[in-house]
Amino acid sequence: MMPRPVRAKGRKGREPAKPKGTGSLRVGLAADHGGFALKEKLAAGLKKAGHRVKDFGAYQETRGDDYPDYVVPMAVAVAGGKLDRGIAVCGSGVGACIAANKVPGVRAALVVDVFSAHQGVEDDDMNVICLGGRVVGYELARDLIDAFLSARFAGGRRFRRRLEKIAELEAQ
Ligand code: RB5
Repeated sequence: MMPRPVRAKGRKGREPAKPKGTGSLRVGLAADHGGFALKEKLAAGLKKAGHRVKDFGAYQETRGDDYPDYVVPMAVAVAGGKLDRGIAVCGSGVGACIAANKVPGVRAALVVDVFSAHQGVEDDDMNVICLGGRVVGYELARDLIDAFLSARFAGGRRFRRRLEKIAELEAQ
């Protein structure tokens, strides 16, 4: 007999899972026109799941707008401790990721698989996840964000050592 598929807990209603243990997170969202539609859907789901969402725009879909205008203020808020995590969306996720990583203290990654979405936090203390609004659909995006928001930095010595090397580079 085929084993029955196991559904993760906290997925009732297909909203992003609440973070384990600590209640809601302060989550920033930012997107250009390429990520606007996905951001809007994610914002609604995250709010429903009990997270405190700060939307840095775009607030309407405007062809030709520029992702740094939204992503950088959001990344600054994450780096400054005003937000726990950030989600940046553009068409591919590439530009958003490049922009976010220019802000010292931000550890952003373009993620398309669930393993990297949680392992990036556990090992690398990723604090901004970048998604391609023209690459991933809402269902996968929600799974990636569930994994990202539920994960916690493991804090092992080797992980800290690696992050210290990156912080040293930022400080130069
Ligand atoms: C905008 O058309 C597109 O270039 C942008 O959203 C993003 O994909 C850049 O990486």
